[in-house]
Amino acid sequence: MNDTLNPKDTPVDTTTLPVIAANLGIGKLVRHIFLCADATKPKCAGKEASNEVWEHLKKRLAGSGLMAGDQCTFRTKANCLRVCEHGPIAVVYPDGIWYHSVTKEVVDRIVDEHLAGGKPVAEYVFAVNPLNRNGE
Ligand code: FES
Repeated sequence: MNDTLNPKDTPVDTTTLPVIAANLGIGKLVRHIFLCADATKPKCAGKEASNEVWEHLKKRLAGSGLMAGDQCTFRTKANCLRVCEHGPIAVVYPDGIWYHSVTKEVVDRIVDEHLAGGKPVAEYVFAVNPLNRNGE
């Protein structure tokens, strides 16, 4: 791939993109977890330590059955979630549950109790801001 953005002479591949999306569970997602890891300017946690948490999250989600089916969850490594204190920081949407101090052990609890069980891990929650899906 070249380094241009959306080159006009490259048509959008409307046959491949839906297949990629479907393979990722896009269309069936119920939650999306973002984790601050591997930041360009690590402020809330060390680069190596946050990457270990990210790798653990990927492994736990892959082994949990949460990347398909009724509880389908998407994951994204965020460079920085702008909180930059007491990290790694994570947020789960659409619930809008913000977590601090996300170690591997906390990831285990978030996966089991929140993503699978639907109940946030209250002792690590520092903010709540559910996305407004109904314009209310
Ligand atoms: S560096 Fe983690 S939230 Fe900013």
